[in-house]
Amino acid sequence: MLDKIKALREEIKQLTAQTADEAEHLRIKYLSKKGIISELFNDFKTIPSEQKREVGQVINVLKNEAQEFINGLKEQFADTQVKGAGVDLTLPGTVMKLGSRHPLSLVRNEIVNIFARLGFNISEGPEIEDDFHVFTALNFPEEHPARDMQDTFFIEKDPDVLLRTHTSSVQVRVMEKTQPPIRSIFPGRVFRNEAISARAHCIFHQVEGLYIDENVSFADLKQTLLYFAKEMFGEKTQIRLRPSYFPFTEPSAEMDISCTLCGGKGCNVCKYTGWVEILGCGMVDPHVLEYSNIDSEKYTGFAFGMGIERITMLKYQIKDIRLFFENDVRFLEQFKASI
Ligand code: DAH
Repeated sequence: MLDKIKALREEIKQLTAQTADEAEHLRIKYLSKKGIISELFNDFKTIPSEQKREVGQVINVLKNEAQEFINGLKEQFADTQVKGAGVDLTLPGTVMKLGSRHPLSLVRNEIVNIFARLGFNISEGPEIEDDFHVFTALNFPEEHPARDMQDTFFIEKDPDVLLRTHTSSVQVRVMEKTQPPIRSIFPGRVFRNEAISARAHCIFHQVEGLYIDENVSFADLKQTLLYFAKEMFGEKTQIRLRPSYFPFTEPSAEMDISCTLCGGKGCNVCKYTGWVEILGCGMVDPHVLEYSNIDSEKYTGFAFGMGIERITMLKYQIKDIRLFFENDVRFLEQFKASI
């Protein structure tokens, strides 16, 4: 019997098949229930028991070898095509590119998170606003030249309806509904009737902040904004407040940070001053509190407003604001790493 097995092993190694059918016939011939190898197992039952151990081992080796070899023959003919579908499964697939967040969303989220750590929550207001919330309640009297600070898109049919020029309008909406303490920020889109250039756009984004409580002072404003500047632009960042004018804050200031590019030494980003302006701020004018029924004898507060495009341009050294609105993938995909 051992000779027979040896001969079969040799025989199987010589097998070839030209088609899938031929390979299948070989499988049936050798490996099926009535195949040659199964018969061997039947013969095995009849041999003397002292030979069983040795012969059993050799038959098993034969069976495994035959299975492997005949499977190998069959695999040559394995179909790579889904029958009738005309699809070749071995072709490489179409790669779906992973999208990335828009740089303005990334920076918006970063700003929101920094202020969230100081206990500020978020509110939003409408983009299509009325004159009262954008101007009057913020202490811009009618016909006052301060209204010209921001070129406004009005709706022709109704001059009372306009596109908000700043997110300061959300301050009013929040104060109308909420009594202090208020500690909120308001991110959103704003609109100004301005010519589009590398530095200005008619649509852009701002984040407004408002903090109203008893005994809120200018020192609180300064400390909050210093914290923000360091978190956003790095621990070494310094701030500088310059007196300014906004109708809704008194006193008002504009805040500069030490230049992110040269660190204050002077370069063309900071126009060799070492400082770049990033936001407007001030103590909320008592008139503004009173317009929204907040007791200005009891409460004080501060407010600030910044452009998200400006912060993003400084942070990533982007030179042209129009890039944010062109949706050019070559620009947008550069911000993938910071998802
Ligand atoms: N709303 C101002 C603007 O769009 C920015 C601003 C300045 C907001 C001073 C403030 C502030 O809250 O206190 O130019």
